Amino acid sequence: MTLNARARHYSTARFSGAILVLTVFLSCSAIAEKSGGKLIGGAFNLINHHNEPVTEKDFLGKFMLVYFGYTYCPDVCPTDLQIMSEALRMVDPAIARDITPVFVSIDPERDTVALMAQYIRHFHKNLIGLTGTVDQVRAIKSKYRVYSAKSDNTANYLVDHTAYTYLMNKDGTLLKHFNHALPPEKMAKQIMALAR
Ligand code: NI
Repeated sequence: MTLNARARHYSTARFSGAILVLTVFLSCSAIAEKSGGKLIGGAFNLINHHNEPVTEKDFLGKFMLVYFGYTYCPDVCPTDLQIMSEALRMVDPAIARDITPVFVSIDPERDTVALMAQYIRHFHKNLIGLTGTVDQVRAIKSKYRVYSAKSDNTANYLVDHTAYTYLMNKDGTLLKHFNHALPPEKMAKQIMALAR
């Protein structure tokens, strides 16, 4: 698998340090898959878009498609959430029924529950939006080996972030990760091969 799926919302030159860190994280996730997904995933505490507290236990027993991003993202997140949604619609309904699509905010300071609820409506009908406190989000990012960093300290900051869609098994371990901007039909095919 090629590991070229990094989200760049601005120039590589300006953020070469961040990109270097990102490369290290990409290597980690490749290793995780080979070793059975043990390095990606685990316990978390967050708030869903209905303003209810949730943990990883609420998602066990179903496959999960997870994407980490933020609602103010100009292009990368909407693209990948659209791909995730389209892929789920292409999957055999009997399989799709067993998959929970999840969008986790990496920008909890701006992504309120109300904003998440509004945002996810643009994508799949089953999509669940998760946000939380800064500490809760930091914890799940660490568990999923997600890297993100604010571009600056202005009110309209962008967030540079890894852009993987994770397919998690029913026991909460990683089955596969999909790169940014993978065509939805390819994602659907791989989901159907793995999520059964
Ligand atoms: Ni984004």
